[in-house]
Amino acid sequence: MDLTLSVIGCGYLGVTHAACMSSLGFTVIGVDTDPDKVAMLTRGELPFYEPGLDSLLAQEVKAGRLSFTTDFSAIANTDVHFVCVGTPQSKDGLAADLTYVKAAVAAIAPYLKEGALVVGKSTVPVGTAQSLRSELTLTAPQADLAWNPEFLREGFAVEDTLKPNRLVVGVVNDRAEEILKEVYEPIIALGTPWIRADLPTAELVKVAANSFLATKISFINAMAEVCEAAGGDVTVLAKAIGYDPRIGSRFLQAGIGFGGGCLPKDIRAFMARAEELGAMQALEFLREIDAINLRARQRVIDVVRSKLSEDLTQYKIAILGATFKPDSDDVRDSPALDISAQLQAAGASVVVHDPKGIEPARKRFPNLQYSSNVLECVKDADLILHLTEWREYRELNPSVVGTLVKSKIIIDGRNVLDRDLWRNAGWRFHALGRSD
Ligand code: UDX
Repeated sequence: MDLTLSVIGCGYLGVTHAACMSSLGFTVIGVDTDPDKVAMLTRGELPFYEPGLDSLLAQEVKAGRLSFTTDFSAIANTDVHFVCVGTPQSKDGLAADLTYVKAAVAAIAPYLKEGALVVGKSTVPVGTAQSLRSELTLTAPQADLAWNPEFLREGFAVEDTLKPNRLVVGVVNDRAEEILKEVYEPIIALGTPWIRADLPTAELVKVAANSFLATKISFINAMAEVCEAAGGDVTVLAKAIGYDPRIGSRFLQAGIGFGGGCLPKDIRAFMARAEELGAMQALEFLREIDAINLRARQRVIDVVRSKLSEDLTQYKIAILGATFKPDSDDVRDSPALDISAQLQAAGASVVVHDPKGIEPARKRFPNLQYSSNVLECVKDADLILHLTEWREYRELNPSVVGTLVKSKIIIDGRNVLDRDLWRNAGWRFHALGRSD
């Protein structure tokens, strides 16, 4: 391959993109300001858990195509620069914090060579790309800027990068599109749909997609609330409506709702940006989506109280799951951890188990008690709360677990456990959106 690539920001998105592009044959240099992270990556070690990415990273580093540095001047000979830094929710409001994106573009600007293309992948408020591009015309007029949103899911990051269901590029001219077509040629060759857009549309595609997904989840959780009130079963309802191809069955899993580093902050940042643009009315519904989502966390706590007592101080609650979803060690805005902390604050004695997320969880909530062994976690529990649907929990034997706990009460916060199996083993089984 003739083109050489750089990836600015070696977090979740950046490392995945760097390793995947390297696996397509490109020479890739990853730049990050954190020397510890860079040292780890240089050894071919992944600083977080993502299935399949660890071996891909090690393989690409070993092959010599992929390297990492803290030195921004190392990008000077590179043609295409992917900006993959985080855009977290700002501390004082709903808007996205653009500090890292602006800093990244400013840091590479002095080293951009003639004809270089900067490609933003971070999720940003609409209008950001245009303003960064204007900035670049002053600081690095020899370079251009495009936007290429990323839709990868944690747990499927490699697959989603190498076999995405579409590629979206926001460009201002044909040359930028041609460069990106050259980069993604092997992926386009798989028949991947290619969508050329202008800069604002490319930015909006990402937040619109995440808003739609969040809406689907909150819709089914709203149905779960109605099912509970009316004595219905949301899992049957979801299955029945999902057969309609216009609705589709995916993302209709009722439970404690969405968390993670994307969906919650993206819908909030979208609302904040719409307000700035005078279009808040159009996104007013996202406030409700957020409220339904947070209410699901409260509803599960209400169920715990109804099964045990208003006063939780005498009770031990075993929590299965800390991460925001299975096959990830990410605990950012994790509903499971939020619920665990709230139950502990209410006086319950809480022990949390997770196959991969205990250390990240401990960093965020050092006062919670953790157990790395699921059978030890449930020992003498008055109630088990299943909050992240790891396979390990689905494979638990209810009879064996039943011999360890104090009382056989389980609440399935994700609607994936086999209710009959648990009930037949003598458990009181409750799930959100299903009558007892
Ligand atoms: C999401 C988008 O899916 C992805 O396209 C985007 O690039 C980044 O944000 P991710 O954050 O990895 O990806 O998680 P996702 O699989 O979307 O799940 C988000 C949350 O929704 C999780 O907490 C999950 O448990 C929850 N969820 C998902 C449900 O509660 N019900 C569902 O039916 C699906």
